[in-house]
Amino acid sequence: MKRILITETANHVGKKVKLNGWVQSARRMGKMVFIDLRDVSGIVQVVFLPGNDKMLNKAKELRPEFVVEIIGHVNERPEKLVNKNMPTGKIEIEALELNILSESKTPPFEIVETEKEEVTEEIRYKYRYLDLRRESNQNMVIMRSKFNKYIRDFLHEEGFIEIETPIIGKSTPEGARDYLVPSRVYPGKFYALPQSPQQYKQLLMVAGFEKYFQIAPCFRDEDSRSDRAPDQFFQLDMEMSFMNQEEILNLTERLFTKLVTNLFPEKKVTYSPWPRITYQEAMEKYKTDKPDIRINKNDSNELAFCFIVDWPYFEPELKDGKHIPFHHIFTAPRTEDIPLLEYEPLKARSWQHDLVLNGYEVGGGSLRIHDHKIQEKILELVGISKEEAKEQFGHLLEAFQYGVPPHGGIAPGIDRLLMILLNRANVREVVAFPKTGDNRDLLMNSPSEVSEQQLKDLHIKLDLKK
Ligand code: AMO
Repeated sequence: MKRILITETANHVGKKVKLNGWVQSARRMGKMVFIDLRDVSGIVQVVFLPGNDKMLNKAKELRPEFVVEIIGHVNERPEKLVNKNMPTGKIEIEALELNILSESKTPPFEIVETEKEEVTEEIRYKYRYLDLRRESNQNMVIMRSKFNKYIRDFLHEEGFIEIETPIIGKSTPEGARDYLVPSRVYPGKFYALPQSPQQYKQLLMVAGFEKYFQIAPCFRDEDSRSDRAPDQFFQLDMEMSFMNQEEILNLTERLFTKLVTNLFPEKKVTYSPWPRITYQEAMEKYKTDKPDIRINKNDSNELAFCFIVDWPYFEPELKDGKHIPFHHIFTAPRTEDIPLLEYEPLKARSWQHDLVLNGYEVGGGSLRIHDHKIQEKILELVGISKEEAKEQFGHLLEAFQYGVPPHGGIAPGIDRLLMILLNRANVREVVAFPKTGDNRDLLMNSPSEVSEQQLKDLHIKLDLKK
């Protein structure tokens, strides 16, 4: 007999079905046993009636989180026993056979969530596989999967090509610290995990793919904040050739407008089209470059997207005599401002665009430099010497001499968007296996020590303060 999912039981009234799942709760009533049975699709009530004593005795042993197989008869509930709060509330399974597939210790916390959360984050993360059994987390993980699938389907339809770039690669400066990976074969040399696939995606434009995307893992060694992961997060990384800024913004707006309409019908998008606000206007009117332009800031279902455009290329203050770009060094200066780079660089504006939602920066991007001379000028202004430039970006500067299309892109942050769409308090709550705010993985217990031999293989000597 083929197993069916719990949500399908309602279509099998009067028939025999086979179900698999976890015991959510078990209670005895007189000579009967009732359980709520849970699988990935939902919950249904199962009743063990007197008559088959062997089975009834086994049912009396059932505890929460036991895994079982049940063959039973789908009965319609009498009108007065219908549970309107349950999608399967009109039916009940009358058990005919019970098979206990695995037993469970008493979990360290209740899987059924209550209004008032009693359990600490430490305990939830240590037992994340149990925490993930909870309904809200099941929904989160499933919504994340649907979110990514929607993006993929939309972009494939628009002619984008999905391309994976290396995880173990070379550092790309995005303003954070790198996670380094020591090389065993080349003593004293290191790979870096990408802070973003920025350089690779630009090289893919040089390679002629024209429309690239990737749901890209990015690694940044940063301090944790509610909207910032301290280690890794995902970007919807996109890059396009022969498109102007407005075309890139338009595509982003179409994608997320459709996605919200289809996957989050309870949300309403306040403005259409999304306002394009200049950096200067944002600073004057809202005193921030991430304005929250919602009409009702207490309405968790309101989504007010906007783009911030027309950024100054550099921050107003130099640091150690060096110019600090607002975005990154691959961003193109606005064409009419290129001469300013020579004598008044702080006045030059760029083709940067940020995507802002409800007061959070949820995406960043720009049109890129595709002229190696301008790229060299920017590197000089940010204080990267010719030698350093050659060592760090020689490949890009060289590639730019072989016919490079005008290109640009954007990278919305998946975690930050989901945090807002799923009304979660922080980005840790929208990933399957989060770290704590202080960057520990309590489930797998990392970071952890490694063996002497591993260190030796990697040519590493530790110098730890006693
Ligand atoms: P940027 O550094 O602005 O741009 O990053 C783009 C988006 O990534 C998300 N993000 C984060 N999310 C969670 N935790 C973090 N630590 C974190 N850091 C960034 C944000 C942010 O808006 N290569 C460029 C993009 C481009 O130019 O196309 C880049 O990475 O949502």
